[in-house]
Amino acid sequence: MGTIRRILGRLGRYRRYAILAPVFTFGAVSMDMLIPYVMALLIDRGISAGDMAQVWLWGSVMLACAFAALVIDSISAVCSARASTGLASNLRDALFEKVQSFSFSNIDKFSVAGLVTRMTTDVTNVQNAFNMALIIATRAPFSLIASLAMCVMISPNLSVIFFAALALLSLALAVIMLKTMPLFGRVFERYDALNASVQENVTAIRVVKAFVREDHEDEKFERAAGELHDLFVRAESILAWNNPVMGVAIYGCIIALSWFGTHSILAGEITTGQLTSLLGYVFHVLFSLMMLTMIFVMLSMSAASGRRIAEVLDEQPDIVNPDNPRIVVPDGSIDFDGVSFSYRVGSEEETLSDVDAHIASGETVGILGGTGSGKSTFVSLISRLYDTDGGVVSVGGHDVRDYDTEVLRDAVAVVLQKNTLFSGTILDNLRWGKADATLEECREACRAACADEFIERLPDGYDTMIEQGGVNVSGGQRQRLCIARALLKRPRVLILDDSTSAVDTATDASIQQAFSAWIPDTTKLIISQRISSFASCDRILVLDGGRVVAFAPEAELLETCDIYRDVHEVQTRVGASADFDRLEGLAYDPLSQRNDPAFADELSR
Ligand SMILES: Nc1ncnc2c1ncn2[C@@H]1O[C@H](COP(=O)(O)OP(=O)(O)O)[C@@H](O)[C@H]1O
Ligand SMILES: [Mg+2]
Repeated sequence: MGTIRRILGRLGRYRRYAILAPVFTFGAVSMDMLIPYVMALLIDRGISAGDMAQVWLWGSVMLACAFAALVIDSISAVCSARASTGLASNLRDALFEKVQSFSFSNIDKFSVAGLVTRMTTDVTNVQNAFNMALIIATRAPFSLIASLAMCVMISPNLSVIFFAALALLSLALAVIMLKTMPLFGRVFERYDALNASVQENVTAIRVVKAFVREDHEDEKFERAAGELHDLFVRAESILAWNNPVMGVAIYGCIIALSWFGTHSILAGEITTGQLTSLLGYVFHVLFSLMMLTMIFVMLSMSAASGRRIAEVLDEQPDIVNPDNPRIVVPDGSIDFDGVSFSYRVGSEEETLSDVDAHIASGETVGILGGTGSGKSTFVSLISRLYDTDGGVVSVGGHDVRDYDTEVLRDAVAVVLQKNTLFSGTILDNLRWGKADATLEECREACRAACADEFIERLPDGYDTMIEQGGVNVSGGQRQRLCIARALLKRPRVLILDDSTSAVDTATDASIQQAFSAWIPDTTKLIISQRISSFASCDRILVLDGGRVVAFAPEAELLETCDIYRDVHEVQTRVGASADFDRLEGLAYDPLSQRNDPAFADELSR
């Protein structure tokens, strides 16, 4: 109940349509109710009495009623369509706005696929149910009660037939409903699985193809789609009983009415016209009943959707600004004091444990560690994408939780591992970093990020359109654009999370050189699997299993840190960039394409 109130609370300025629709429906049903009654008059006073004037009179009244019903019904349909589409659009706006305020862990909780289902399928369900409810929820009960009242008025004896049919039909429909409702409930759980599969595969289609996993993924998708299909077939095949049950009820009623009705006419209890009007009301009564059950199924289907929407709307963003936030980040120093962290979803072990690290402002620090060692997690705590479980992360000498999050994230620029460009021109994308950047500034940033040469070779240069997801630039080009975008912010702290993996070593080196010229005072954190990326680093932090193994200048690491020495030896000996992950057992294969920038480029495109 609370859910319904909260969802309908979003009607906003569409509320008046939601009120008008039932009012008009009420009018239309009244007209409908009149028609069988007028029909009786037409037959009794006109046809039976052989009075043509009466036939014309009541015939015209009937036509007028039918026409009025039609017009009023259309108005009510327009109103309810406006109310329901308005509600849907308000819900989508509210959901979208809410999701914008979510922290990463809020998003982890629902999963991206889950959020997409809620904003699309679930909203559409609520919209349809609300539309149906506005029309049917007034029409069916009113029409049912009014028709029954008319019947009782015309002939209390014959009305017994209606009540008997009504009771039987209610019973049958109740059974059908009780059987289908739980099935429809499960249908929506399956939708999430299906959406997850679609989302994963369509966004990663290139990787799927590169690894020739289409068959496997096909199978996975077919399984999800198959389960959904089975559930739907089961639910619908039970629902399909509705029609034959209705048929039996209607025709049973008609036969019984004709039989007993004829006797009543012969006994002089009712007129021929009255029997005809009773037959008209049969349809109204039974049809209303069926509509009522349909709307129950509909509403219970959409109740699950409504709950899922309300869940998102009720979710509290778990990273919020403090009361008196700091709005200046004094410098780029970073301190981790006894920091531990674990993801709320999907992991029991700590992802980072007891991390202590102190980085001076302006320092350049390399971060090395195997996949899953917590490198990305480490840096995401700096811009407060997640809050720590224990310990304190400070930037510029103050706890990150004391800052206004917008200020903090402006000061800490992160080029994420999975960086994204948005659809729009290259210039638009660069200006995400700084809204009022001039073309010259953008050019300079691109020069520093080694992006200028490829941009200038494009036919439209800086006005080239980036397609959605940045598919029309290569992985390496995208990385360089994202770096340029981050440089434009002139941040206090710049974090590159494996952001140069898809550019060759020489370009990587010249990008890093440009950093010292472009942002000398900025603290730079460089995550990489390639030791060559650390050439310009003052110190290197080695992470293993969420713990800091070593944090020292390279020369010192070569003497004291075994992990670092091993990686260094392999990568320099083979002369190429060995993958850190392949170190175990020195299973490095020099022919492996995995570290070939061109191949990496292909994959990440
Ligand atoms: N959003 C997330 N939700 C749950 N677990 C995560 C999430 N992101 C990363 N992890 C887990 O945390 C660990 C560290 O991940 P990450 O910091 O991304 O490692 P790295 O960047 O060093 O490869 C991994 O075991 C990974 O599975
Ligand atoms: Mg990572």
